[in-house]
Amino acid sequence: MEHEQSRRLEKRRRKRCVILIVIVVLIVIVIIAVVLGLTLRQNKMVLFQHFFICCFCIFRCTTDCQKVWDAFEQAYVNKDPCKVAVEAYDPLIVAAPFKPQCNRMIFWSKTKDVVHGFTEKRDCFVTLEDTLLGSVLDGLTWCGKEGSKGTFTTGCPGWSKCKNNPVLSFWRRISAAFADVACGNVTAMLSGSIDTPFNSTSIFASIEVVRFQASRIKSLNVVMVLQSNCTDSSLNNLRQSLDTGITYSCKDVHESRIQECGAKPEIACGACW
Ligand SMILES: *[C@@H]1O[C@H](CO)[C@@H](O)[C@H](O)[C@H]1NC(C)=O
Ligand SMILES: *[C@@H]1O[C@H](CO)[C@@H](O)[C@H](O)[C@H]1NC(C)=O
Ligand SMILES: *[C@@H]1O[C@H](CO)[C@@H](O)[C@H](O)[C@H]1NC(C)=O
Repeated sequence: MEHEQSRRLEKRRRKRCVILIVIVVLIVIVIIAVVLGLTLRQNKMVLFQHFFICCFCIFRCTTDCQKVWDAFEQAYVNKDPCKVAVEAYDPLIVAAPFKPQCNRMIFWSKTKDVVHGFTEKRDCFVTLEDTLLGSVLDGLTWCGKEGSKGTFTTGCPGWSKCKNNPVLSFWRRISAAFADVACGNVTAMLSGSIDTPFNSTSIFASIEVVRFQASRIKSLNVVMVLQSNCTDSSLNNLRQSLDTGITYSCKDVHESRIQECGAKPEIACGACW
């Protein structure tokens, strides 16, 4: 969502499988030429290729990428880009369901850099952006237009122009789907360097926490990154938002400790905080 960081992340990922990308690009060009003909718009091809590269290369072809793409596209194609409801992506979640990864799922709010710096290096936790849908579309913009079959990557409404835009609705929908499958011990990394670490307008507060179910989740462990600490009064709101039966805990952890854990695999993940 924060473009600079995401681009950096994407670069790193691409480096990881350069050879595969070259092969996949060739395959994709053939697929596009054969399956879709040459009527495609240039910008759609960019997003489409990106989608297939991630799907094949990073996720090793375990998903039927064409089916997922079709489900993705139907959400916004031929629609006013300010009238794409969150529910428009329901078929996408059906086509590419989230797998529960008990005890490994980590949610975050205003700590995107720190949390991804950590999960990129260590395998013990998974963020939304480490899943298929999250990683493929992180940092990208897309929309459709009424009366057109195209996918556009420029001239799309910004987040501030209208709430029901294709990108925000996408993130709201997949955040909900990710939270729906959360299970076991769930971790949340919040920022201790802002006034309200648990802000009721955040996606974490308004979409994710409210979907946590005590029947699936044992405990929520907050990792408070940086200067502030777990005594912050907004954390009382978090405790109250939780489904009865989910154990709550919070630990203050300095950002440098998380970076140290990322750099040193000999530190057990359980000992990081
Ligand atoms: C889950 O958290 C509890 C304490 O909150 C801990 O005792 C338990 O070992 C944890 N389980 C796993 C699988 O991490
Ligand atoms: C919560 O976040 C919104 C949007 O980022 C901001 O405008 C608001 O001031 C925050 N609320 C608190 C209590 O910090
Ligand atoms: C926690 O933060 C509050 C306010 O930010 C401060 O007054 C308090 O001394 C801090 N407590 C600890 C243990 O750092």
